[in-house]
Amino acid sequence: MNSRVVAGSRVDEEAQYEAGLRPRSLNEYIGQDRVRDNLEVSIAAARGRAEALDHVLLYGPPGLGKTTLAYVIGNEMGVAVRATAGPVIEKAGDLAAMLTNLQAHEILFIDEIHRMAPNIEEILYPAMEDYELDIVIGQGPSARSVKVPLPKFTLVGATTRAGLLTGPLRARFGIVHRLDFYQERDIHEIVRRSARILGVPIDEEAGCEIARRSRGTPRIANRLLRRVRDYAQVRADGTVTVEVARAALELLEVDEGGFDEVDRKLLRTIIDKFGGGPVGVNSLAAAISEERDAIEDIYEPFLIQAGFLDRTPRGRVATARAYQYFGLTAPGKDSRLW
Ligand SMILES: Nc1ncnc2c1ncn2[C@@H]1O[C@H](COP(=O)(O)OP(=O)(O)O)[C@@H](O)[C@H]1O
Ligand SMILES: [Mg+2]
Repeated sequence: MNSRVVAGSRVDEEAQYEAGLRPRSLNEYIGQDRVRDNLEVSIAAARGRAEALDHVLLYGPPGLGKTTLAYVIGNEMGVAVRATAGPVIEKAGDLAAMLTNLQAHEILFIDEIHRMAPNIEEILYPAMEDYELDIVIGQGPSARSVKVPLPKFTLVGATTRAGLLTGPLRARFGIVHRLDFYQERDIHEIVRRSARILGVPIDEEAGCEIARRSRGTPRIANRLLRRVRDYAQVRADGTVTVEVARAALELLEVDEGGFDEVDRKLLRTIIDKFGGGPVGVNSLAAAISEERDAIEDIYEPFLIQAGFLDRTPRGRVATARAYQYFGLTAPGKDSRLW
């Protein structure tokens, strides 16, 4: 699944490129205007009062700029960002150590925050709310709890699935923002900016072509740009013209809608095997040999947003648009009526 050219999630060797392409300030951060405007106000206000920024929760599909935004916030606040991730915190003591090592107003960034173990998550409640750690000393009847004060810090949490966050944790974030898929013109601007940074000569129309097939996702846009650049270098004179872009994208099997083989397989399976749906996500996952989580986090959000898939209480349904895409006629009047 990670080898998909249009996967929003990051593959390991991409880390080095991403570091260079990451916007560092709110001004450089393209698109997501609502989120940016709101953060600008929150940050200016916190700075004006010389306080730590309120805790921030960022959620949305992979590749839309959550991690980038966490570092942008640190930069705009003029503080360091200490980063970790839900699944890598193994012991409560590890998190306690990170918290006590923070300086005032610094940021603790927890990626995939929905994947923290419950006993570890509980440490965060008093830490976020009262800036203190509750430590239990001793066992049994003689056990007593000691409160250790923490510096006033900011927790920035990122998750692809806000729905999986527990109520108490979610309630402790004062600032909550959802990142949406980007508009095509914003992605185009991101492609232009990245091409400039990478020193790739690219035509306006070629940039458009890449933007259109990037599923509204900056990470995918940057990845397609790099692959197209390779193609331009090897099969042309290095300049990315629209012909070069099209040929390269065709070779990568990324079609007009930014769909790849897995998207097509997913939709075709619903249509061919399950009569268009509704089909439960578990059956679907089994039928296409993908993980349920991958379907819910990665494939589905884009297909739903693009109007090819509906999520109903009874399961997933292929829309009339999906049928059209394959040159088929939808059964009944409109499969969306389900
Ligand atoms: N608003 C943006 N403007 C420009 N580039 C962006 C933007 N958001 C993300 N990117 C690019 O996309 C890549 C993936 O973003 P990232 O923050 O790692 O996504 P996420 O954490 O949501 O999976 C980054 O390396 C960055 O170069
Ligand atoms: Mg990330």
